[in-house]
Amino acid sequence: MPFKVGLKTVDRQWEFRVALAGPTLLDLMNGQEIPIKSSCLGKGICHQCRVQIQSGFQPPSSADKKAFSSSELADGWRLSCTLRPKSVVDAFFPQAYVFTESIKVNRSPKSDWQYVVDLGTTGIEILALDSEGIWAECKALNRLVLYGSDIMTRVECSQKKGVEFLHKKLFLQLGQLHGKMVEGLSTDFHFVKKWTISGNSVMSAIATNHSLESLAVAPYEPESLSGQVISSEYGEIETLPLLHSFIGGDLTAAVYSKWLQNRKLLESPRWVLVDVGTNSEILFWDGQRLFVSSTPAGPAFEGANISIGMRAEAGAIVDPEYQPDSKCWKFSILGGDLPKGLCGSALIDMVAQAVTHGLVAEDGEVLLPEQMRLTDRLQLSQADIREFQLAKSAIRTGIDLVMTQSEQAPEELLLAGNFGEHLHHKNCQQLGLFPELPTKVIGNSSLRGVLDWSQTGSDLHQEFCEWLEQVKSPIELALRAEFQDQFIKNMSLG
Ligand code: FES
Repeated sequence: MPFKVGLKTVDRQWEFRVALAGPTLLDLMNGQEIPIKSSCLGKGICHQCRVQIQSGFQPPSSADKKAFSSSELADGWRLSCTLRPKSVVDAFFPQAYVFTESIKVNRSPKSDWQYVVDLGTTGIEILALDSEGIWAECKALNRLVLYGSDIMTRVECSQKKGVEFLHKKLFLQLGQLHGKMVEGLSTDFHFVKKWTISGNSVMSAIATNHSLESLAVAPYEPESLSGQVISSEYGEIETLPLLHSFIGGDLTAAVYSKWLQNRKLLESPRWVLVDVGTNSEILFWDGQRLFVSSTPAGPAFEGANISIGMRAEAGAIVDPEYQPDSKCWKFSILGGDLPKGLCGSALIDMVAQAVTHGLVAEDGEVLLPEQMRLTDRLQLSQADIREFQLAKSAIRTGIDLVMTQSEQAPEELLLAGNFGEHLHHKNCQQLGLFPELPTKVIGNSSLRGVLDWSQTGSDLHQEFCEWLEQVKSPIELALRAEFQDQFIKNMSLG
């Protein structure tokens, strides 16, 4: 006899009729195309698919017991990928992704037009271009988050379902976004001639429907570092060359923009560029060579692996400020009045202040757990602080070791990507996340770079790629003997 299962997020709710031994709560949500954080495809390992049972409690599974403390279990927290309802259940997903899109059409386009795309693991940004410039812009959550929150989970998904499955899903979404941008225009504009795409190594392969097999096994090399151009039913698709195995076309795009402004970077100051993400990329231009590397920082700064973490979207707590007199936290909430979680930059702010006010020791031990509570439901735990330390240390250790490759010290630090835009540099410096260098936030350098690429010809592309081959020097950080010692030193929050 089927029974009722009610599921809700902060802004939506659903009701299902399910049979005994039916789908898990995660399956039910994914069936509605509501992605829940996951980087293990439902194996009960990543502990990201949290749900709070509000009525119809079931005993915790063995995976739940590993994922949650006894007080969290008593409060109804479970992993949604292991919970198959056995009776009527009502449950709340506090941190489901919210599919947001923003489309801005500035004017009618000229006939000869194309799209350039910054294709991120989680976000997509599109510029529609014609001979006079940008006529429309679009930002959206990448719907492939339904198939894993990070790139390695996408690789695993491609092994199960095939790259073509992900490629088609991607272009289904890009096609829908295109449809919204050209709504109301004559049919001349309904066929896309060209997509020029910068993305990480995995998203670039998905965009051109190329195999991900070689990225799934050691030594984790893509089949080719070259940019690809394919003809497809969606129009011509071009991806930018990759810099190294997991250092993709998004970073090539960033370097291309700098190279165009200042050919061969001869006049450029020496810089370190950092793009913080699950796999954080680090580039160091020392005046003669371009050192390229990446460090697996984990998804803590993107909201995953942190019990109350989320991306900087509606409902995210920002600018937390500890009030020593009341022993409470004051904060703002992005785009709404219901706090859903803590975004990456707010996590840095909160940890920095917690150390300053003695709530957390410099070695990361939480001394006053009750004062790490933001609301009744949202509290940073000891496990969260450890995740933060691991992510912070991975990034700083990566930067430190890349900088040792040259006798020339960098003159400036460039922070790429959306993450850099919301940071309070004082707190980053206090925690030792970045070295003490003059810092510039350069925003979405991938989108700017792919725009530059699309507006320049193949001669310049060729010249750039030849220059890159001469100056590029990939560094494998994990193979370096001093990595471990430096990593342990950088775990400190002092
Ligand atoms: S999806 Fe990873 S633990 Fe549930």
